[in-house]
Parts: sequence; structure tokens; C-alpha cells
Amino acid sequence: MEGQDTTPREALGTTVRRLLDGMDLEEKIGQLCLVNGAEGSIPQWLAEDVAAGRVGGILNEVDPTVACQLQQLALTRPSGLPLLMGRDVIHGFHTVFPIPLGQAASWSADLVEACAAHAAVEAAACGLNWTFAPMLDVARDPRWGRVAESLGEDPLLVSRLGAAMVRGFQGGDLRDPTRLAACAKHFAGYGASEGGRDYNSCPLSERELRQVHFPPFQAALEAGVATVMASFCDVDGLPASANAFLLDQVLRGEWGFRGFVVSDWESVGQLTLHGVAEDEGDAALQAAKAGLDMEMAGSSFRRHLANLVRDGALTLERLDAMVAAVLAVKERLGLLEGLRPLPTEPSPDVGAALAYKAALECAVLLRNEGELLPLRRDAVRTLALLGPLADEAAEQMGTWVFDGEAARSVTPLTALRKWEGPGFQILHHAGLDTTRDLDARHLDDAAALAARADVAVLVLGEEAILSGEAHCRADIRLPGAQEELLRRVAATGTPTVLVLMAGRPLALEGIHDLPHATLCMFHAGNQAGPALRDLLFGVAEPVGKLPVTFPRQSGQLPVHYSHNPTGRPADEGSYTPMAQIPQGAKQHSLGNTSHYLDAGYTPLYPFGHGLGYAHLQLRNLRLDREELKAGERLSITVELVNEGPRAGTETVQLYVRDLVASLSRPVKELKDFRRVCLEAGDRMELRFQLGEEDLRFVGRQQRWISEAGRFQLWVGTSSAAGLEAFFTLA
Ligand code: BGC
Repeated sequence: MEGQDTTPREALGTTVRRLLDGMDLEEKIGQLCLVNGAEGSIPQWLAEDVAAGRVGGILNEVDPTVACQLQQLALTRPSGLPLLMGRDVIHGFHTVFPIPLGQAASWSADLVEACAAHAAVEAAACGLNWTFAPMLDVARDPRWGRVAESLGEDPLLVSRLGAAMVRGFQGGDLRDPTRLAACAKHFAGYGASEGGRDYNSCPLSERELRQVHFPPFQAALEAGVATVMASFCDVDGLPASANAFLLDQVLRGEWGFRGFVVSDWESVGQLTLHGVAEDEGDAALQAAKAGLDMEMAGSSFRRHLANLVRDGALTLERLDAMVAAVLAVKERLGLLEGLRPLPTEPSPDVGAALAYKAALECAVLLRNEGELLPLRRDAVRTLALLGPLADEAAEQMGTWVFDGEAARSVTPLTALRKWEGPGFQILHHAGLDTTRDLDARHLDDAAALAARADVAVLVLGEEAILSGEAHCRADIRLPGAQEELLRRVAATGTPTVLVLMAGRPLALEGIHDLPHATLCMFHAGNQAGPALRDLLFGVAEPVGKLPVTFPRQSGQLPVHYSHNPTGRPADEGSYTPMAQIPQGAKQHSLGNTSHYLDAGYTPLYPFGHGLGYAHLQLRNLRLDREELKAGERLSITVELVNEGPRAGTETVQLYVRDLVASLSRPVKELKDFRRVCLEAGDRMELRFQLGEEDLRFVGRQQRWISEAGRFQLWVGTSSAAGLEAFFTLA
């Protein structure tokens, strides 16, 4: 398996067993406690607890000196063991890369892996050895603030990119001191939080869990992920932290996971608030029995595990298994042989170069009327740069940037100013103080600059604080008076480019066609400015594809491409927009199909959508057989042709539909994708392959099965359309 370290399991067993045999009950429980509390200095209580072996890991200490002091304290006793040092290193450390959702828009496993590897070495240089990433929750409701932290809505895309992130953080051998143990989170189903409201219930069926939410975790396990975090939510009524089906039956039993499971922040104690545990002791017992090994930030394990073992409520075998799982990860990290040396942090320039590449690749060109983009340098003498996010070094970094340095950020204004000189002038006005600002006083001043310019570039979206954990929105339109700012700028008649910097897709109904071009950059990190400038002027081409659907309106949510068919599908002929319904229309005169009267039945921009500057066409789709038998591979070839004058990049996507099965199957499912570059005038043949195993689904018995019958496939440049063909599975 890729990315897994090479230490033989039997060797792991011996060392761990020897250590376990030498530990008393208090030391064992200590290994299961992940404690918050240092953050720059060591309080007396923590020093005592660490020295006494009552702590297995610390989170949120990033001062390398303090981290080393803590490690020395942990080794005070002859039997002392080094600590796990954890932190949310989510999309960079000192250098900030695009938010995970932005990285996912690259559809590039190589890029995601490189960003994680760089973040790992920066973090390891500060004494960390464990990150609480990647987040692998499949996110289909962008009201949920944590969509920013996700890799999007599709299980295959999340699986491939999530596994790449694991490889980036962990490398091939976790003893390498530049690497971090990764943590696949949040197991499982958290992305389905009802209504997109964080920490909410996830009313998921077992089939939906297995089919949609489990695959990314399984992929992370195959990539060798060291640890897993249980989610805050309840899944079909049972909170994940006490869910033996998730933690024991599936994770350990079915998938053979041998690392440890950590709770989320105080999520063990919160079992009482979920109403499934009497008190903290009961919560500790339920979590431990269900398969949770380490408690983050709470006191349930520390205060209750010893008594639970003494009373016989929790067996010593189970406790030993919990400790062994933690020790096994420490062993993989090389911590049982002693402290890891701290690597040297790479120079900021190295991070900046990668952050620039990542910011380029996360940009998705949603719209480009009349090919306004790329701008021609000789045709733009005056550029009006407007909007509340045009010069906000911290906001462009996005959520989860505890350690990110805004001083490393280059804003669009700074980047464009670098090009100023005779013949090229920037006019700048924020128009609004923040993205939430409702004060329309300065909108006309901003629009007046647009009127004087050859082109207006409007940087709108959300501040970092409007997405991320607990930061959900019921209405995901542009907040504040930003829509009005866009209207006034567009009304000047100056060609306008809308740049979106946000932690989620936004609902752009009513304004999406005002700008000539729209470039979605999500929160693109430190180098958003230079990347934007170079994309605008065609120094680089946008290559991103949406990892998540853009709805028209919030009321349509959740909306995602891979939904099940309905018995009454809508199409253009069967849908009457509300404004066109005649007064007094009879109940059935509109037909009965699945749509909203006021939002229709399609999203604004589909999953997989993203334009480029070149003109690449797909042609000549061919299958090598009509019937696929088990053990065989169906070979699918297609030609990609670049007839235009520019080199270009395209991400070609393969989708499949199982036309008749024993259960209703999604209207489309992504099965493969490939990003390729093509010189002007060039053509290439692309080949995809499908086997019977790619056509499986979770059947009525909750097991992955395939069924004979007809399938439809599409090869296209988004989930909305493509060249079509049919085949049969024998
Ligand atoms: C989040 C986790 C995070 C942890 C530690 C929790 O609130 O849900 O994703 O890793 O805090 O910061």
C-alpha cells in the first residue's frame, strides 16, 4: 500500500507489548489523554501531569522551545514516553495554501500532496508530530461552514485527494522527522449535518454512509493514515464517539485499521448532552467500549477510566488495546526510540513558490462572456480594482490559519501595483469596509472609478470568519451590500470581472450575468494576489474545476450532481417559472415534476465545471467492447483536440450511470478524471478503463455488489454534459 511505513507488524507488537507490561494503570490511562493547555508556556499543573505520565499528547503548542521542554518533562521518569504533539495543520502552517476546497478545485493529487508535505515540514520544525487533517467529510451542503475545509461533494474526488494529503503529511516513513502523523476526520457522516448547521444530527442510512461517506476514509486507510478522529455528530441517532458500528465493526473489523481513534474536542463528555450517557463516567465507558482510544481535551477518561477498570465495567484487555493503538502510532513516528530531531524550516520563498502554484491551480473560471479574459496588457491602460477583499492580507488566507502569517500574503492590490508604470494605472477603492458592510455610502465612488477604467475587477466574497467550523450561513448570497456594488459597477458599462474569494460556493442568482467574467478563487492563501493578476492577464490559464456545485439560491440546498433519479424528473418543457404562471391556473396545468417554482431544477454551475482560455474539444468517443465481463477491463478512448492558438489544459471527466439495478442508482457518478495540457494545434488520445469493480454499489444487504445490465457513460468537461456511449455488464 502506498505511503505505509515499512516497519513489520510483528516488531511493532513486541515493543509495544513490552512497554505495556511495564506500565501501571495510571500510566496507561495517561497515554489516552490528549491535553490542551500549554500555548506558549507550561502551567504548573501541566508540568506535573506530563512528568508523572498522565498525558499522552498535547495539542496546540507550537513554540519549539516549549515543545522541547514538554518532551523533556515527559521523559522525566525512566519509563516516560515522548508526547504526541498535535495541531490543526489544515492548509499550510506558516505558509498558507488555498483552503482545502480550493485545493480540491485543482483536481490535482500532486498539488494537494505537495502542499501537505510542505506544511508538514514547517510544522515539524516547531515540534509538532501530528496534524488533525485531512478532513474527509463529503460536503454536499455549502451552508455548512466546514465545506471550506472539505475536498468537495464527490466521494471519488475526496478519496483521491484525501489519500494524496495523507501521503503528503506522512511520506513513506513516519520516522522521517519532516513528516507528521495524519488524522482522517471526522468519522463519519459529519458532512451530512442536517440543514448545513454545524454539530447537527446526521440522519444517514447505512447505505448512504457506506456508499458516499466511507470511501474517502477507506482510501486514507489504504494510504496508511496513522489516526482517525470520531465526529461530533450523531449518525442515525448514535453519536460517533460511542458508535461501535463505526469505530469497531467497520473501521477495525471490516477495514483492519490498526492506528488509534481520537475523539473530537470534548466529544466524549458531550455524549451526556446528546442524551445517550447518564454522566461523564458512563460517557467514558461507552466511548471506550465502542472503540474510541484517546480523548481530546476532555476529562472523562482521566477521571473515570481507572475506576471503570477496577469495577470491571471496562476490561483490562480493552484498555490495553487502546494503549497499544496509541503506542503503535508513537512507534511508527519513531518516538519509542527517543525524541525526533526538529528539521530546519524551509525559507519562506520556497513556501511562496508553491503557494503561488496552488493559488493558480485553485482558480475556476465560471464565466467568460465575449472572452473578456485574458485581458490584453496593451489594451488595458487603467484597471479599477474594487471590492472589500482586494487588499485584505489576512482574509484571503481563509479559515483554520492559527499559524498562518498574513505578512506573507500578497494581495491583489499589491500584486497589480507591481506592474504599475507608464501606460498602466490601478485605481483602487474597497467600496465597502467589509464583505458584511451594508453601508452603501461609498458604492458610487467605487463605481465612478470603474467608469474611468478600461476594465473593472471586483473582488467580492466572504471574510475568512464567515466559513469554517461553526460558521454556517442560512443564506449563502454575497453578504452586505456587495450585490449592489456589483450592480453599480456593471451599470457603468465598463467590462467587469468578478473575482470570488469565499469559503464556499455562493448563490449568485440575479447577479451572475452582470459581470462579463467570473473567476472563483475560494480563499486562495498567501499568493492569491500574484496568482489573480497573472490569471487575469493570461500569464497563466485557469485550470480549476468545481469540486462542489454552485446553487442558484440557498433554498435549493442541498443540491449536488450525483443525486438519485426521480419518478417525475423535470425538464425544460415541464417547468414553468413562477412569474409565468397564469393567474387562476388549474392545479395540474403546470404538470407534476420535481422542481422549485422559484428556482427551477438545475444548479447555476455544475460540479466539474470550469472554463479555460484555450479551445479544447473532445471527439471520437470509442469503447473497445459492448459487453464487459468480470475480470475484464472496458477500454474507453477519446480524442482531445486543441484547434485554437493557445496551449490549454483540460480536466477530462468520466461519469457512469447504472441504468437498471435492484436499487435506484445516481443519475451520474464520477469514475475517473485526468488533467492534461495540449499545445496549440495538437491532439491527443486519452484512455480510461473500467472494470466490474468500478460499477459496484451498496446493495440491499449493505454489501458492495455489481449487477448485470446496461450502463451509460459520459466523457466530458463537467458533470453536465459529455460524449455518450452505452455498454453492458455481463
Ligand atoms: C474540530 C476538529 C479539530 C479539533 C482540534 C474541533 O472542534 O472539530 O476538526 O481538529 O477541534 O482543534
